[in-house]
Amino acid sequence: MAFDFKVADLSLAEFGRKEIRLAEHEMPGLMATRAEYGPSQPLRGAKIMGSLHMTVQTAVLIETLVALGAEVRWVSCNIFSTQDHAAAAVVVGPDGTPDDPKGVPVFAWKGETLEEYWWCTEQALTWPGGDGPNMILDDGGDATLLVHKGAEYEKAGAVPAPESADSEEFAVVLRLLGASLAADPQKWTNIAARIKGVTEETTTGVHRLYEMQRDGKLLFPAINVNDSVTKSKFDNKYGIRHSLPDGIMRGTDVLIGGKVAVVCGYGDVGKGAAEALRGQGARVVVTEIDPINALQAAMDGYQVTVLEDVVETADIFITTTGNFNIITADHMTRMKHQAIVGNVGHFDNEIDMAGLAKVPGIQKIEIKPQVHEWRFEDGHSIIVLSEGRLLNLGNATGHPSFVMSNSFTNQVIAQIELFTKPAEYPTGVYVLPKILDEKVARLHLDALGVKLTTLTKEQAAYIGVDVAGPYKSDQYRY
Ligand code: NAI
Repeated sequence: MAFDFKVADLSLAEFGRKEIRLAEHEMPGLMATRAEYGPSQPLRGAKIMGSLHMTVQTAVLIETLVALGAEVRWVSCNIFSTQDHAAAAVVVGPDGTPDDPKGVPVFAWKGETLEEYWWCTEQALTWPGGDGPNMILDDGGDATLLVHKGAEYEKAGAVPAPESADSEEFAVVLRLLGASLAADPQKWTNIAARIKGVTEETTTGVHRLYEMQRDGKLLFPAINVNDSVTKSKFDNKYGIRHSLPDGIMRGTDVLIGGKVAVVCGYGDVGKGAAEALRGQGARVVVTEIDPINALQAAMDGYQVTVLEDVVETADIFITTTGNFNIITADHMTRMKHQAIVGNVGHFDNEIDMAGLAKVPGIQKIEIKPQVHEWRFEDGHSIIVLSEGRLLNLGNATGHPSFVMSNSFTNQVIAQIELFTKPAEYPTGVYVLPKILDEKVARLHLDALGVKLTTLTKEQAAYIGVDVAGPYKSDQYRY
């Protein structure tokens, strides 16, 4: 075997390749990026470690990075989100066979344990020959976290005891870093020193980056891809509008129409979730902590109230906050029989799954993978999707290609920016210039038959912009 990798089954590669071929047509931004930058190879010399859901859409992203000259190693950023046929196709590559893979090393399969998940992340960060990675492409910040924590503990000369961790998952990270410190006390320090930058995909990962910047702990520059308008106002909203009902339906096949559905959080993801559930005929109730978002939800026609008011009567509960302990074990105990509970925020702690498992007399019954009935002592039960993790990726296949083409075109442009212009990005967190954001949108107009109006010179002067853009100030909110 030419290179190291670990996926479920390479014989799925042919199916994966067929779906990648269809997805390429639906990802005009990425394909245009290949055509524009392919000849100049701006990512030659880039060794990119990617930690982002290993789906068919991500396969098109990976192969775009390779087409621009990069060497790549990849993992999923969630234990349930890998599409095994996509992972196999990426390893085999367009020119390889399952017996002679010629693609990209991927370490990901659907249904990893937490130990396997973090092992995979370490593998993708461990470059053969030790001269990489020099770039990270992250989703949720786990790869960035591992490098930062590893370097921090190496500097301190010790890793905290796993028993001191505030979650089962962080205990796994501490065990991994403890073993790595014993084997090589400079491993993460050396990796951190080589990294030129990270491009971060999602709201939760971006929060982590700004926190590290605030605390003076950020070790390399970062581009916040999430806050490109063509990412968060599209993927988070229209992507969820598609993949949330898809996940609920594939998981449960319950009719959404007529049900009362609660959406916790009315940010970009919450807006898409509420719209989708209303589109299916549900009566949607929103919970919010921010008066602006709460008012938006009310103006959009939703009832806005506290969870306590509806916990015993609603049928479907979806968390979208990026915050923790939104639905507690006590809430779940009080829900009506066969209420459906799911999360589409980045991490699984929006729903207190650990607390649920500790309810006296509770029974967990697997209906099928990623769909569990939790039966309480009194005989009533609730249905939890994807064990409280991203249900749109665990129970369905995540966002569709067209919307991910917008997000991933931002990712590719951000990788090129950080890799080729290090002097312009000293350590800190940046967003892409608006002109590039507009470029990403422009690349997706033709496919939808959109005809754009061109400003006259006089009109451009009147509103104070260039005919070619950017058309809005950085304060504009869309
Ligand atoms: P956002 O910041 O726009 O929205 C979150 C909203 O939740 C905010 O309006 C906030 O006020 C509200 N909130 C916070 N605590 C709350 C509480 N206790 N109760 C009720 N509301 C509360 O963030 P965005 O972009 O909507 O992302 C939300 C989460 O979804 C993040 O974790 C993000 O990483 C993730 N995400 C998931 C995707 C998926 O495919 N499943 C796609 C994109 C983002």
